[in-house]
Amino acid sequence: MNIKNNALKNSRSVFINKKYIEVNGGKSLEGKIKISGAKNSALVLMATSILSKGQINLFNVPQITDVAIMSKILTSMGMNIKSNEDKLEINSKSILHQPQEVFTNLFHSLRASFFCIGPILARLGSANIPLPGGCSIGSRPIDEHIIALEKLGVQFKFKNNYLIAEVITPKKRLIGALIKFNCKSVGATKTLIMAASLAKGRTILKNSSQEPEIVDLANILNKMGAKVKGAGTECITIEGVESLEGCDYRVMPDRIEAGTYLIAAAMTRSKITFSSIEPKHLKEVIKKLEMCGCKFEYSDKFLKIIPNQILNSVDITTLPYPGFPTDLQAPFMALMTTANGVSTIKETVFENRMHHVKELNKMGAQISLKDNTAKVVGVKKLKASSVIGFDLRGTAALAIAGLYANGKSIIQGLEHLERGYEDFALKLKKIGAEIKHKKQN
Ligand code: EPZ
Repeated sequence: MNIKNNALKNSRSVFINKKYIEVNGGKSLEGKIKISGAKNSALVLMATSILSKGQINLFNVPQITDVAIMSKILTSMGMNIKSNEDKLEINSKSILHQPQEVFTNLFHSLRASFFCIGPILARLGSANIPLPGGCSIGSRPIDEHIIALEKLGVQFKFKNNYLIAEVITPKKRLIGALIKFNCKSVGATKTLIMAASLAKGRTILKNSSQEPEIVDLANILNKMGAKVKGAGTECITIEGVESLEGCDYRVMPDRIEAGTYLIAAAMTRSKITFSSIEPKHLKEVIKKLEMCGCKFEYSDKFLKIIPNQILNSVDITTLPYPGFPTDLQAPFMALMTTANGVSTIKETVFENRMHHVKELNKMGAQISLKDNTAKVVGVKKLKASSVIGFDLRGTAALAIAGLYANGKSIIQGLEHLERGYEDFALKLKKIGAEIKHKKQN
């Protein structure tokens, strides 16, 4: 049977997205990958610029659609943004105003837009922004953000899917408070650090998230004149200041992009060298890949992975940092489909992050799912197929499986990948993968 025609024929019948990836898999890869700046840091650093009366120059910003959307959102508030390759110049000298209603759909399309609420409240004393929706991986509530901001003196009303927030303290300035989050929330921790940086007095955040992106946020704020201590631990202290200045800042390397390509290297049993990578952000991922049978060579600027031909099955449970990251659950599951033995993959962070199971099974994987735990029985081969990616990291997982399967696979959902991976196909092509971005005419 001709895989190509069959995959294309099948895919036409179920095409739900116009853009797709075509991968001709089964090849071993070789060469170097340069890691880009971190999406989940760049987006919040862009929102932080709202706090500054000066100009923020960001370097190493990934050129992805989420960054483009965030730029449009900041522009809608009267900010001035100039971009030049991986550099963003942002200044909010011009009078900031509430986002225009016309941009509602932009806010709905980018969950990270909610990072703007803390800075807008700190700068303007009120915020009027669309409620962020849920997404394919979960309901994505914002209760931790709301409860904590209320302690800083914010009153909330909800009207036609909009959040109307007012600072009800004297002079409409946020006031520092002691806050203990009920659950680990990366977003809520970021929101409160930004809001508290211009509040009156001290804010202490307990049960804070410890992700490296939070450390990146604290670093830029302290360069702007803020006083943030303890980022990266579960207890963060912020002494509010009167105002924040501009600065230059380089975005940290993207640990999730790096983990995705490390897993792709392991999957294709390829020796790949990585530059602009921060191995200390990937300790748990590297540990699990070593348990699979991969070896690593470190130098001050590079990391090289040397996978075994036979990979051992390894169990993972996703956890807040420094545990195994939920954003690499899907790519790691793809890897386990061809490992030797049975692995258990437990997702504890998001309630609906297993869309890739059915699609991987279409490629010949043997995965059974109960609640949020997948049991993966390793198989010798995967078959090139036409599959559909439903979210950013699930689509990356399917592309990784396509790199392994002999023959031509069609992976729909390219628009998901373009949101979070800079030059996804180009980076893989440079190490020998036969992979193309395509558009159904
Ligand atoms: C950030 O999302 C990342 N996004 C996610 O990356 C990442 O998966 C997640 O952190 C966890 O590491 C960005 O940084 C733009 P959370 P965020 O608040 O901040 C519950 C990717 O693929 N929760 O830590 O939204 C929530 O339901 C994306 O790059 C509440 O209950 O994550 C979830 O179960 C996906 N109440 C858990 O906490 C709240 O108020 C983690 O959410 C907030 C969160």
